[in-house]
Amino acid sequence: MAVKTQEKMRAVVISKFGEPEVLKIEEVDAPQVERGEVRVRVKATSVNRADVMQRLGHYPAPSDCPQHIPGLEFAGIVDDIADGAGDWKLGDRVFGLCGGGAYADYVVVHGRTLAPIPESFYFSQAAAIPEVFITAYDALVSQMRLVSGDTVLISAVGSGVGTAAVQIVKALGARSIGTSRTKEKLVQAKELGLDDGIVVKDAKFAEEVINLTFGKGVDLVLELTGGPYVAEDIACLAPKGRLIVVGLVAGSKANVNLGKVLSSRLEIKGTTLRRRPLEEKIEVTNVFVKQLLPFFNKGLLKPVIAETFKLENAAEAHHFMQADKNFGKVVLTLE
Ligand SMILES: NC(=O)c1ccc[n+]([C@@H]2O[C@H](COP(=O)([O-])OP(=O)(O)OC[C@H]3O[C@@H](n4cnc5c(N)ncnc54)[C@H](OP(=O)(O)O)[C@@H]3O)[C@@H](O)[C@H]2O)c1
Repeated sequence: MAVKTQEKMRAVVISKFGEPEVLKIEEVDAPQVERGEVRVRVKATSVNRADVMQRLGHYPAPSDCPQHIPGLEFAGIVDDIADGAGDWKLGDRVFGLCGGGAYADYVVVHGRTLAPIPESFYFSQAAAIPEVFITAYDALVSQMRLVSGDTVLISAVGSGVGTAAVQIVKALGARSIGTSRTKEKLVQAKELGLDDGIVVKDAKFAEEVINLTFGKGVDLVLELTGGPYVAEDIACLAPKGRLIVVGLVAGSKANVNLGKVLSSRLEIKGTTLRRRPLEEKIEVTNVFVKQLLPFFNKGLLKPVIAETFKLENAAEAHHFMQADKNFGKVVLTLE
């Protein structure tokens, strides 16, 4: 009897925790589909801050995902389809989120967490969209009820998520104030529709936000840095203002004024995408397809790409992001 050989693929593997050089290209077993799943031949993926943290050993992958292959999003071609995976056809151009494993030739995901790539986008552009636009839209709109007329503060506005958020705020008719430690990123963010920018030094910005809002404060904060920024966020929120903590690059502890939280009746929330159960991932994909993709088709939203690297140069791409050089996304392409 013939024994079926295990199919192999190329992947970038975290060989041990540490600096970007620990990322090694290796030959590993290719994932196979089970009921409800689709296998995608990856053409492009992106680097996210979470990949950097995972590589450093600070952010383990969920237990049902590849443990040592980073990569939270992908764009590619449908390559295999199991029963119950939906109406996909071999060769369809698709993109979406995964819990890990996208720095590889193939990823397997549930068919209902895939979206069709708009015709006008290359794979490299599509790969720069899911993680940051879904995170920003889910936090701002689905969870914190952003409406036109709101004033929104976005920290690290030049980050991947920040550059998505500023476009969403603009497209929905709200006003944005962005912070960055890098002046040039604020200039670039204004080209995406940022209304006001603040160069942050020593994590201080509340006073300037209060001045920019004529003493009123902001309605909503998208907090992408965490740490000492949170105390400043609370100081510059308007009565009944909303704060959502999305990222912690500046630290996971904050010393905050709870008196202001009470007296101004503030709403504070945290969020994460990666660890959500499958049903919730399907739900955010449906929202992405119905509510966000039309904005891309109308040209009101666009992927912002700082730099593109080949998959085998993933270490260089990580150095680039770790040094905070990117305005927008860092893309990895596969051939
Ligand atoms: N909760 C979720 O589901 C979720 C999903 C996606 C991303 N995130 C989080 O959202 C944030 C943005 O992610 P991303 O992938 O878009 O990041 P990114 O492109 O790497 O951008 C991060 C930016 O944050 C700023 N920064 C870095 N260290 C800082 C510090 N110590 N203090 C202040 N600012 C600092 C830098 O910009 P400057 O030049 O302006 O300093 C840096 O370029 C990250 O914290 C990430 O973990 C969370």
